[in-house]
Amino acid sequence: MKQQRARYVCQSCGYQSAKWLGRCPECGEWNSMVEELVTPVSKLDLPESPPIPIDAIETRDLPRLKTGLSELDRVLGGGIVPGSAILIGGAPGIGKSTLMMQTLSYLSGQKVPTLYVSGEESAEQIKLRANRLGISSPFLYILTENALEAILRGIEKARPKVVVVDSIQTLYTGEIPSAPGSVSQVRETAGRLVHLAKRENLAIFIIGHLTKEGAIAGPRLLEHIVDTVLYFEGEKGHNHRILRAIKNRFGSTNEIGVFEMQERGLAEVSNPSQVFLAERPTNVPGSVVISTLEGTRPILVELQALVTPSSLALPRRTSIGIDPYRLALLVAILEKRVGLNLGHQDIFFNVAGGIRVDEPGADLGIIVAIASSLLNKAVPFKCILLGEVGLTGEVRSINQPEIRLIEAKKMGFDKAILPKNNIRHIKYKDLEIIGVKVIKEAFQYLF
Ligand code: TYD
Ligand code: MG
Repeated sequence: MKQQRARYVCQSCGYQSAKWLGRCPECGEWNSMVEELVTPVSKLDLPESPPIPIDAIETRDLPRLKTGLSELDRVLGGGIVPGSAILIGGAPGIGKSTLMMQTLSYLSGQKVPTLYVSGEESAEQIKLRANRLGISSPFLYILTENALEAILRGIEKARPKVVVVDSIQTLYTGEIPSAPGSVSQVRETAGRLVHLAKRENLAIFIIGHLTKEGAIAGPRLLEHIVDTVLYFEGEKGHNHRILRAIKNRFGSTNEIGVFEMQERGLAEVSNPSQVFLAERPTNVPGSVVISTLEGTRPILVELQALVTPSSLALPRRTSIGIDPYRLALLVAILEKRVGLNLGHQDIFFNVAGGIRVDEPGADLGIIVAIASSLLNKAVPFKCILLGEVGLTGEVRSINQPEIRLIEAKKMGFDKAILPKNNIRHIKYKDLEIIGVKVIKEAFQYLF
């Protein structure tokens, strides 16, 4: 048995202190210190590697396993890299277990041995889900277990190439006395799983729950020890799910995967624009469509603003799907540069379909949506808006305008308002393109 000491450990970042503190000095979290018996973390016995000159390093394409879900493959950077550890975070009920079950189902169908470890559900519950998804394969093993040592033995027995651990918060190792889900348990169990993945060259998906603040419960340090961190998101009451890479050692972090939760599992949404515009109202003030880039993929989304007279001394500014600071900034620009008076108006802002937009290319769309609601004038139905807006009210160029225009055209749009600086580089002329240098020019055209 290793030597143990009682320590106060921050449940958010893993900071340790000999005495209790109200606020973690490392991450600033309040009330996060919990007493744990800490055991020195086991050392990884990886082989030593000497420094080598960079031109002696050979590169090769990483072999990747396809998951059968091209949306998931895209987010992973082209498929699963053997020997990698992937953390999947998401709120309870969002569909993490379903996504993983479908992935293992496809892989086992390709005769890749797979193992699904569940510390949350009984074998019957898992089988029920599998039946619902129509899954059955001799290459898919199920293990219901919480003890890390037993899981490691199970992995040795089943010799899988891909393992799913559902979820990290339910695992514990007997070597540490703290409760499952505590920082020391999460760190130790995850660390050993990652180590195993590297040593045995098998891919491990680790499912993690999100706290109500939106971080993966327990520790941010979990994000450091894995190769890839994916978040599975979706709005309550919507069936769309978005898979996003937060960190990826084997691919880009810009890509998103879009799914829809259906009666029989997650279906891929290969044309997200269609989904996000499906319920768009016709010719209503306050509704605007932009073409936003998510990684390499343009997606059309609808922005909605509702501007109403406020009865409050400090009018409300509420935003869903965009950064509230960005909203405040753009409102200030509208007041100062266009002369609209929003000081006595509540502003509610929403990105339809539960998607989040955080690229500056959405600025012009946001501004126009607010103005459209305030002035009670609709924007032409088949017109999209693109452009970053600067503090002086100038409309600045955006990256890759052409693929955004092509997507708009594909979805039946025939007009685009674009930053003037972008126009001379654009060869695509299938839509009517209106170039603007300042916001006012766009307003003259629209209102
Ligand atoms: P689940 O994968 O268990 O979520 P998580 O592991 O992230 O907690 O999915 C739970 C929800 O998905 C549940 O409310 C039922 C729904 N669901 C479907 O709508 N269709 C399906 O085929 C399945 C398996 C689940
Ligand atoms: Mg689950």
